[in-house]
Amino acid sequence: MSIRINPSILSADFVNFQREFESISHADAIHIDVMDNHFVPNLTFGLPMVKRMQQVSEKPLDVHLMIRDVDHHALSFGETGAFSVTFHFEASEDPVRTAKSLRAVGARAGLAIKPGTDLNAVIELLPEFDQLLVMTVEPGFGGQALIEHTLEKVSAARRYLNSEKLDIWLQVDGGIDETNIAKVAELGADTFVAGSAVFKAVDRNSQIDHLRDLATQGHQHMHL
Ligand code: DX5
Ligand code: ZN
Repeated sequence: MSIRINPSILSADFVNFQREFESISHADAIHIDVMDNHFVPNLTFGLPMVKRMQQVSEKPLDVHLMIRDVDHHALSFGETGAFSVTFHFEASEDPVRTAKSLRAVGARAGLAIKPGTDLNAVIELLPEFDQLLVMTVEPGFGGQALIEHTLEKVSAARRYLNSEKLDIWLQVDGGIDETNIAKVAELGADTFVAGSAVFKAVDRNSQIDHLRDLATQGHQHMHL
């Protein structure tokens, strides 16, 4: 299992995205938070911006849709050539159909759950997906503290994926930093979104390397 560090540009300078992308060249992918001010109480950017980011980014884009009515919009994001498109279970009427449409255009399909959503609500859907995103904060804003009880879902998801031999990436997003990433890796996460922890660093690439080292150490102590 490999460890992936995906910096979230929610904490970047929004008028200099291209330069900001260049400052995180050690990233595995760049995490793009799309917010509509309805599903979450915050607004970022939409499809035209993601299309343009796809053109200028040398790294794969890991798009995280925090939008309502996502079944009608997800496919357009997949069609930009994004590496992965993750949408919220809570915003979808037909997650399996939306996942199939994303995979059909070559995007990895991701399913996200908010802190209050039970893992059991989505567990049977997982074979239709390439990645599960367990939100470790309430979606909407960067810089929040990780909510401890969400980590129970990380370990339960890891146990389930291993027991079913499902090769699905287990992603966490929110409040991940150098103080907790090893522990979260030990519980079984393999893909880490970090916004403020990367963008506040003076040397962002060193911070990405540091986070990856800590997660790799944690992963080596993973006990199931
Ligand atoms: C929150 C977003 C996150 C956010 C994480 O709704 O989905 O991707 O940028 O930021 P940090 O790492 O600062 O908690
Ligand atoms: Zn996110």
